[in-house]
Amino acid sequence: MHFLHLLVAAATVSAASVPEQSLRSRTACPYATSAELAFERNAIYAAKLVPDLIPSFKPTLRVDASYPGQKVNYGNTFTTLRRTVPEPTISFTAELGYDPAKTNYTIFLLDPDAPNPTTPILKDYLHLLISDAQPVCITTQKRKTLASYMSPTPLSVAPHRYTFLVYRQPKNYVPPPSLNYAPGARNNFDLAAYVKQGGLQGPVGANYYREGLAQAA
Ligand SMILES: *[C@@H]1O[C@H](CO)[C@@H](O)[C@H](O)[C@H]1NC(C)=O
Repeated sequence: MHFLHLLVAAATVSAASVPEQSLRSRTACPYATSAELAFERNAIYAAKLVPDLIPSFKPTLRVDASYPGQKVNYGNTFTTLRRTVPEPTISFTAELGYDPAKTNYTIFLLDPDAPNPTTPILKDYLHLLISDAQPVCITTQKRKTLASYMSPTPLSVAPHRYTFLVYRQPKNYVPPPSLNYAPGARNNFDLAAYVKQGGLQGPVGANYYREGLAQAA
């Protein structure tokens, strides 16, 4: 009992001797719990996004995305098309083993159900592509938008799975230059080729929502 008190006292003293700045930035950086990561993994597999969009999935961070008035929450349905017109805010937690200040990530928003889930001949439709994103605690991050946001316009009654994917960028990352992601040419985006060409690692996190004409008003 006394020994424990001593330990606690020692821990308090050593924490106090750490410069305040580094203590604050460390405590401000959230990590996903193992329960959250298991939930995330199961949600993506249950939605058959493996193998429809990605070959496998073992998340190491949590992705939070939201539109004004509604959060993206692992397959929840958006019933108001108007709601997904503005660009969503996207953030993610840090990853154990990777310094959040020194690791950059690429974010995709993709639709593997274009123009409809039964015959998705336009898959994957690229709605957004951002490089050099960092975990939510890095307030100085300078994201680069490589393909600007195009809001969903589902043409089928059946809902589409609009999916956010986060990949870790390697050191000295250069985004693949030659792939076509110009406005108006967003269909048939080849995610696997892009990931391979850029040496992207992951996906390390994902989230998705559903939206289709039957639900939308
Ligand atoms: C992350 O992105 C920023 C902004 O483009 C860049 O200045 C920095 O060098 C990148 N860091 C790494 C580790 O790639």
